Amino acid sequence: VLLTNVEQKVDKGHFRHFMLKEIYEQAEIAALWVGKHLAKARIDSKYLQSDSLISLSLDDEVFEGIERIQILACGTSRHASLIGAYLLEQFAGIPTSVFYASEFRYAPPPLLSNTLTIAVTQSGETADTLAALQMEQKRLEARADPLCNSCQLGITNRPDSSLTRQVSHLLYISAGIEIGVAATKTFLGQLLTFYGLTLAFAERRNSCSKSELRALVTELQELPYYLRKLIKEHDELCANLAENFDDVRGVVFLGRGINYPIALEGALKLKEISYIQAEGYPAGEMKHGPIALLDPEVPVVSIAVPGRVFSKVISNCQEAKARDAKVIGITPIGPETKLFDMLLPIPEVSEWLSPLLTVIPMQLLSYHIACHRGLDVDQPRNLAKSVTVE
Ligand code: G6P
Repeated sequence: VLLTNVEQKVDKGHFRHFMLKEIYEQAEIAALWVGKHLAKARIDSKYLQSDSLISLSLDDEVFEGIERIQILACGTSRHASLIGAYLLEQFAGIPTSVFYASEFRYAPPPLLSNTLTIAVTQSGETADTLAALQMEQKRLEARADPLCNSCQLGITNRPDSSLTRQVSHLLYISAGIEIGVAATKTFLGQLLTFYGLTLAFAERRNSCSKSELRALVTELQELPYYLRKLIKEHDELCANLAENFDDVRGVVFLGRGINYPIALEGALKLKEISYIQAEGYPAGEMKHGPIALLDPEVPVVSIAVPGRVFSKVISNCQEAKARDAKVIGITPIGPETKLFDMLLPIPEVSEWLSPLLTVIPMQLLSYHIACHRGLDVDQPRNLAKSVTVE
């Protein structure tokens, strides 16, 4: 595990583990982000139609003429990137692909012009991500006819990292040093960065109406409040739920749309620190395989957020229950709530904002299950905070 002396000195405060402290810090990170980037967007009488809703310190070059985006990342950073891609495509209207950096470096897609390549790595040191980006830069240099508008952007938590030296455009997620090997607050920071980037693209391209933009900005401004409340409530709820996972053979996480990557992240967190076999699946795919796993010893954690696929997710949960699986719902309280065996309630917000909230029970559930099993939450076996080899 690569921790510098400075990082070793970071204090746990009154928390039992760095991971829990870092989960709690997320409300403050969101508040700082809102204050820094949405300050101009205050929806008050002084707001003018011509005012920009988002301020990001990025050159115009990153935005101009871009027709597609490709994102390179590993692990939790890749899950944040999948949500970023959903936002960039569905909200800002830009075709976006996410690649495992380790795969991209050996099988990149054909080079296309007007492409923005984004490398996402909280540490800025992950070997596969840096190598994939370098490979892309070399491919571009080798072209006799330089491709126009192909530029690279890095998203990292570390201003002093190798990534910083490798790209000319950067966005820092400003989450503060993360010590727990399982990424939590840096994931939220990466998500917020993607919300910012999406708003900036959407605003420049008029891909949605000003009122849609304002609605998302207004919800983002309320995020710190939601997070503060949710983290506290779910810390207690998840501590009580943890003992239900004593005898499980595995856990299936289901999500859909913008929350599908949260199902992947929930499964990854559980694997990383609890060593329980876990699968993250888009809920509609359950019938094509994972349903065979379900029985009373394989619970399902389902993210069911009201929106375009809510009723579909609910029927997937009914199918799981019909196989005697216990179903834990991450969902707002409503008429469907009675379907679930256990509930981790979330406030009713728009689908766009929801992943910033649904990730909290995922983090806290894996944290408490690992604690309940007496495991080393901050230093799980076989894992490193930053993997600097291939
Ligand atoms: C390691 C860590 C993961 C992390 C991944 C990518 O595998 O254990 O938690 O998500 O690296 O790290 P990065 O620094 O590139 O975001």
